[in-house]
Amino acid sequence: MCEHCGEKKTFYITTPIYYPSDNLHIGHAYCSTAADSMARFKRMTGYDTYFLTGTDEHGQKIERKAKDKGVTPQAYVDNIVSGIKDLWKLMDISYDDFIRTTDERHVKSVQKIFKQLYDQGDIYKGEYEGWYCTPCESFWTELQLKDGKCPDCGRPVEKTREESYFFKLNKYQDWLIQYINDHPEFIQPASRANEMINNFLKPGLNDLCVSRTSIKWGIPVDFDPKHTVYVWLDALTNYITALGYGSGDQHLFDKYWPADVHLVGKEIVRFHTIIWPIMLHALGLPLPKQVFGHGWLVIDGKKMGKSVGNVVDPVVLCDRYSSDAVRYFLMREMPFGSDGEFTLKSMLMRINADLANDLGNLVSRTVAMIEKYFDGKVPAYTTLEDVDRALWTLAEETPEAVEKQVNAFQFSNGLQEIWKLVGECNKYIDTTQPWVLGRSEETKPRLQTVLYTLAECVRRVAVMIGFVMPRTPERIFAQLGVEDEALKTWQSLIGKFAVLPAGITVHKGEALFPRLDVQKELERDAKQAEEKKPEAPKQEKKAEKKHEEPEFPEEITIDTFCQSKMQVGRVLECFKVEKSKKLLQFRLSFGKDGERTILSGIAQWYKPEDLVGKQIVAVTNLKPRSIAGEESHGMILSALDDSGNLRLMSVGEGVEDGAIIG
Ligand code: MSP
Repeated sequence: MCEHCGEKKTFYITTPIYYPSDNLHIGHAYCSTAADSMARFKRMTGYDTYFLTGTDEHGQKIERKAKDKGVTPQAYVDNIVSGIKDLWKLMDISYDDFIRTTDERHVKSVQKIFKQLYDQGDIYKGEYEGWYCTPCESFWTELQLKDGKCPDCGRPVEKTREESYFFKLNKYQDWLIQYINDHPEFIQPASRANEMINNFLKPGLNDLCVSRTSIKWGIPVDFDPKHTVYVWLDALTNYITALGYGSGDQHLFDKYWPADVHLVGKEIVRFHTIIWPIMLHALGLPLPKQVFGHGWLVIDGKKMGKSVGNVVDPVVLCDRYSSDAVRYFLMREMPFGSDGEFTLKSMLMRINADLANDLGNLVSRTVAMIEKYFDGKVPAYTTLEDVDRALWTLAEETPEAVEKQVNAFQFSNGLQEIWKLVGECNKYIDTTQPWVLGRSEETKPRLQTVLYTLAECVRRVAVMIGFVMPRTPERIFAQLGVEDEALKTWQSLIGKFAVLPAGITVHKGEALFPRLDVQKELERDAKQAEEKKPEAPKQEKKAEKKHEEPEFPEEITIDTFCQSKMQVGRVLECFKVEKSKKLLQFRLSFGKDGERTILSGIAQWYKPEDLVGKQIVAVTNLKPRSIAGEESHGMILSALDDSGNLRLMSVGEGVEDGAIIG
């Protein structure tokens, strides 16, 4: 509550808008579950919360997929978006609004924003270079080409220039560096702020291409309709167009902007903390208070994704193990800023340990004992002993500890605080031995205190877990006989312990989370995977070969030399390839020529983290090849030094990313 006006404080949280894809995977669900857990937590702790999600529906890829299916792009996305909404329903994602970039409200506002930026001189007309396939009428970047040919039809492509509008990012880069330095809370976790400054801002920003003439499925630039708005200006603006910015009705915008947090995966932190703040600043608008970049769900160290073919379907998991169990696992298993390995086994073990055993047993034992010893009526407590007082105090202190963790996006720690209480309750049962107290009338008063204490703790736990597991609290309340809505609120946890009224009637129900036979479940999963298995990618052993001295022809012509395109690239990401001792996988930026992945067998000479941000030289027109199951799009150049150590080739300072060597 605001001290000054007495109104509820607002909280505006967003997920990224998702690319429409036939089936979103559990990695996508991770992002939405986190945002939803935070939104629920804020609602529960008294904030007027607005939670936005949606879909990012324009672009050539969608245009092509729709064409393949013989439907219009609009019909294509409509169908997929309805599936995405079904998934969010299944997973209890409680968004307040779902924005689609094809919504009229979005289209109109984006056109206004584009025009304003153009009128004030922040957008200008220039030229964009790429490859054009005439029969397909498609424009491709170097990276998208397959063997130097059109990836759709395999025919030759021509280097073409396309008229485009550009947004002046460069003009604002110094302002942004200052802003990030002055607002340490803006980019979280903080390590990502250094990455943005050192890897992207300090080396210098290129102006951003914000329109295309070759992509038809997009928002038309209304004052120059052969152009459509290109990618980030269309996508990022959803966070304000959804609130009515630029429309006749801005009341939501006035109420909720600036956003409290944009929750995004780490690979798109860059767009949210560089392009987006500059756009907002150019529009004269305040910046979101925070961009939080979470880690990825990975399988065998690799980001889960459709192109890698390692996706796990959240629908299958929720149908089999319940959405609450899946949500709990996602929020409990890994610290939120870091990557986390997803395995079915770890999920099953977590469900058994935390949900079936710790929580499930606590609830069922408490209810069963109240039924057995007090005819199902929660008894009143009598005098307290030290062991009771200790548990009461812990229960009184837990909500605050949870709040502290969750407000810092430390969901796992927040849940651990709750499970500390669950664990102490289970220990309390072992120490107080209610089954012994129940044997004689004399110890009945003591038993009353013990079972009251447990019932109240169970109620408290049920309230606290609701932000991650929205369905389970009601199941626990039903067993405890809690009907009064006031007893289901966070407010009821603040202050003294004994809030639950004595005398309410418990009802023993089904086990909350039945114990799973891990081995059986794994076998079942393996069998299903086997049935669906795609052909294993060919492993090219050659690429892992030692650095050998090649044999060269005596002489070559200048034309032969000129056939190799060598360019300066900047390392955006670099990590070890799990199954290889020698390979490093690089994500490299070649400036205007875009980004590409290259694998190189230099792991024994370089630590991946030391290479991020550095410039290297690579041959970029080599035919892509598969190395250890990954596509490598080029070759990084290096030489052996006197001691036989491999050294990467580099260039002097001031050379732009993408510069051609020759
Ligand atoms: N459309 C853009 C975002 C534009 S926001 C203005 C986009 N879409 S996406 O569908 O590819 O990704 C949406 C979100 O899902 C991103 O935050 C991304 O990081 C997240 N995830 C996709 N795969 C993931 C994992 N394997 N693990 C965790 N999150 C992942 O990017």
